[in-house]
Amino acid sequence: DAPETLQPRPPVVTIMGHVDHGKTSLLDALRGTNVVSGESGGITQHIGAYQIKTKGGDLVTFLDTPGHEAFSEMRARGANVTDIVILVVAADDGLMPQTIEAINHTKAAGVPMIVAINKVDKPEANPQKVRERLLSEEIVVEDMGGDVQDVEVSALKRTGLDELLEKILLQAELLELTANPDRPAEGNVVEAQLDKGRGAVATVLVRKGTLKIGDTFVIGSESGKVRAMINDKGQQVKVAGPSTPVEVLGLSGVPMAGDQLTVVENEARAREVAAYRQEQ
Ligand code: GTP
Ligand code: NA
Ligand code: MG
Repeated sequence: DAPETLQPRPPVVTIMGHVDHGKTSLLDALRGTNVVSGESGGITQHIGAYQIKTKGGDLVTFLDTPGHEAFSEMRARGANVTDIVILVVAADDGLMPQTIEAINHTKAAGVPMIVAINKVDKPEANPQKVRERLLSEEIVVEDMGGDVQDVEVSALKRTGLDELLEKILLQAELLELTANPDRPAEGNVVEAQLDKGRGAVATVLVRKGTLKIGDTFVIGSESGKVRAMINDKGQQVKVAGPSTPVEVLGLSGVPMAGDQLTVVENEARAREVAAYRQEQ
């Protein structure tokens, strides 16, 4: 086989942290949108997968998690999709039980972390206390002589966002993230559901290769043929390359988060692989 031609790919960044510390608000601020106000009770019910373009033209893919179960569930299924974790800590609340959980999951995954100290606009905010408290979790930020990047942000006032993006891009550069776009696609399910009218729909994060309309695939123990793809802006697209999140239509059934999507040569092969995976 010819050697693979690896090309740079956008980092996949997962936003984690305690409930209501501002994960979705921060992502909203970065995207310049307002997802939070559309959520019932302000609680994230599913994984949002979004891609943003920075001022310099670099792309960053973000995953917004409702809880850490989704993250650990995906890891349990062998889907290490995350390159970088953003740990969101509200500067008024400080470290809370789910903050500690997020730290432990991140350590277990061996993924670099950037700490976003959020809500610094609040009078009760105490970012220094957060940095000090992180020490007892063995997270030493740069200010304290360590090598974990931290940045003070306010999702509400939209401050510190450029600095956060710069730190993400810096970290991504160190990781030298690459993938070959010129091969049949492989990816992972970040969420899936049965949709009235559209049938089984999966949000897939493409890891390598390029997913195209008409591609035959296996997804978990289901199979299918890409009928349509919709990007995070709700637009129909014909192709999706590495690190791109995309909604895929044309599945035989609903797969699970973390399940792998593999493009295969034909339907006979798809049935074979799906049957094999069902036995596992
Ligand atoms: P879950 O998905 O439910 O875990 O919450 P989340 O972490 O996504 O938090 P969310 O973005 O829903 O924000 C929780 C609350 O904090 C909302 O009322 C936000 O308006 C508020 N909030 C978020 N960021 C800031 C901030 O920077 N400053 C202030 N003052 N409030 C904020
Ligand atoms: Na919330
Ligand atoms: Mg949320």
